[in-house]
Amino acid sequence: MEKFLNLGSQPLANSYIKKSNLKLKEKKFKLQVGFNKKNYLVSIINTVPKEKMFNNEYPYKSSESKTMRKSFKDLAKKIKKKYKPNFIIEIGSNDGAFLKNFSKNIAVGVEPCKNLARLTVKKKYKTFSEYWSIKLAKKITKIKKADLVYSANTLSHIKKLDEIFNAINYSLSRNGILILEDPSLLSCIKNVAYDQFYCEHIYVFSTIALKNVLKKFDLEIFDIQNTKTHGGSNRYFIKKKINNIYKIKNSVRAEISKELKFGLHKISTYKKFSLKVKESKKKLLKIFLKAKIKNLNIIGYGATAKSCTVLNYCQVGGNFIDYFYDTTSYKIGRYLPGSKILIKKYKKLDKKKVDIAFLGAWNFKEEIFKKEKNFIKKGGKFITHVPIPQII
Ligand code: TYD
Repeated sequence: MEKFLNLGSQPLANSYIKKSNLKLKEKKFKLQVGFNKKNYLVSIINTVPKEKMFNNEYPYKSSESKTMRKSFKDLAKKIKKKYKPNFIIEIGSNDGAFLKNFSKNIAVGVEPCKNLARLTVKKKYKTFSEYWSIKLAKKITKIKKADLVYSANTLSHIKKLDEIFNAINYSLSRNGILILEDPSLLSCIKNVAYDQFYCEHIYVFSTIALKNVLKKFDLEIFDIQNTKTHGGSNRYFIKKKINNIYKIKNSVRAEISKELKFGLHKISTYKKFSLKVKESKKKLLKIFLKAKIKNLNIIGYGATAKSCTVLNYCQVGGNFIDYFYDTTSYKIGRYLPGSKILIKKYKKLDKKKVDIAFLGAWNFKEEIFKKEKNFIKKGGKFITHVPIPQII
């Protein structure tokens, strides 16, 4: 693996700090990203033990996002119409935002974060609060195999991909399909969205890399959809090679050719990206400095895991940002890891109190701009770092 990006010493992205713990030393790790020339996988080099990240205090809930709720609902509708599954396993079922679109008799969840698993159990969905493994796959599919395995924004969080796909392969019926959804490496590199890299995102997948990983298990991608979630994601439709029901669609060839044209198979592309990240840091700091000199009131909007990478890499803290607004109940009253900026309960932006808001949740830009149209009308601005740092 060749290292191409160094994002410095970073805290654990989703470890929001309680006021009483502000003085305690935070756990840090070196956030470095590398490229594997053999299989084209891009991954962080030093990983954090999964138990430290996915425990009974996991803050992210899919259901709290309108965009995610809609995305899952639309996909579920398509799945029911096209694939008519009788047994669905969701790996990383979070709080049930996807599962809830299916009958309780046919859909089960796997969710190691106990605080989240409790929520799907409450909704009467059978949920296994364990990490996905071959042992668990055998237990779940003892009576029948799954005709659909779904996993969104989860497999990129798991280090041992071979074990994961082995267990998925075991779980799938002969003609069963696997649908995966994760941030797209092409979007990440094109948008200089280096904040897709944090402790939980062990991998950011490209199609060419995923294809190589799947090959070992006689699994193949037969369709790809680009989605807007999480700043540009890919939804991969995967089948066993022996399954001839689904032909490989042009979307797969098209995505691969886009990736090769952009150079996702070459280390030089990642080295160029790394230079752009350094540039991005300089530009972002310049913008913050200028705004501060003008005495403008700057806050943060959306205390995302992604913003943890940006703030800590660029060393932006209370020196520039007074506080963050966020809608997630768990985060309110806590402080962002590393930068230790207070997170307050979201209120509609008021131009009398706020001049500029740093878009931590840039992936929800459209939703946020709609919500804050009055602030924008009155001359309120946003700072974003994607694709280039600018005031909008
Ligand atoms: P998310 O996009 O999941 O990012 P990450 O995976 O990097 O943590 O998180 C979005 C965060 O932004 C979440 O904490 C909720 C917050 N948010 C708001 O506060 N207001 C909004 O209008 C939106 C869309 C999100």
